[in-house]
Amino acid sequence: MKKIFNFFLFCVMALSSTSCCNEANCADKDFLKLASDRYSVRKFDSTVVEPALVEKILKAGQLAPTAVNAQPQKIYVVESKEMMEKMNEVSPCIYGAPHCFVVCYDKNVAAHRGADGSYGDIDATIVITHMMLEAADLGIGTCLVGYFNPQSLAQALTLPENIVPVLVMPFGYAAKDCEPSPKHTDRKPLDQIVEYR
Ligand SMILES: Cc1cc2nc3c(=O)[nH]c(=O)nc-3n(C[C@H](O)[C@H](O)[C@H](O)COP(=O)(O)O)c2cc1C
Repeated sequence: MKKIFNFFLFCVMALSSTSCCNEANCADKDFLKLASDRYSVRKFDSTVVEPALVEKILKAGQLAPTAVNAQPQKIYVVESKEMMEKMNEVSPCIYGAPHCFVVCYDKNVAAHRGADGSYGDIDATIVITHMMLEAADLGIGTCLVGYFNPQSLAQALTLPENIVPVLVMPFGYAAKDCEPSPKHTDRKPLDQIVEYR
């Protein structure tokens, strides 16, 4: 009787560990698939993104971790034609997108780092990464853009002195003939970027 019970217990444990393992593998695979399928979209069509989807992307930015949970992020959603024209003057990397996000941080709110540093840049970068991946999950293309003129951006958006722009992210639906750049699959092998100690 004990043998039968042990065998039964073994089967239950084996089955439950198999299903856990599958779930874990599955979740892992889904995220890595999203991360590897995402690429920088550099040709957009003019289709407007539904406000409910923009809201979801913003929610992902709200959920991002920030140093000391200070939440210094300030996110501008640029959507009017007039403002997008201005954004095209601020950066050559808007790529015909119908909208863009400008992710900034408030230097009066960001946690301090060392004697005179700030976690603001890091926080804003994590925020925009969350947003980029949520957008990818929704089938919306993005490109992270660091190449912009900060003075003209501050002027175009009338940014107060305490708001520091970190990255611009044009977003929208990828044009039908949009392709990832050849660099998209160009990743160093793990043994070049990782060291175990
Ligand atoms: C901090 C940062 C700044 C970037 N700035 C620009 C930019 O100004 N213009 C641009 O076209 N792409 C920019 N990119 C996108 C990268 O060039 C791109 O992510 C990289 O080449 C890998 O390609 P992939 O995104 O298609 O995988 C930037 C990316 C990062 C992370």
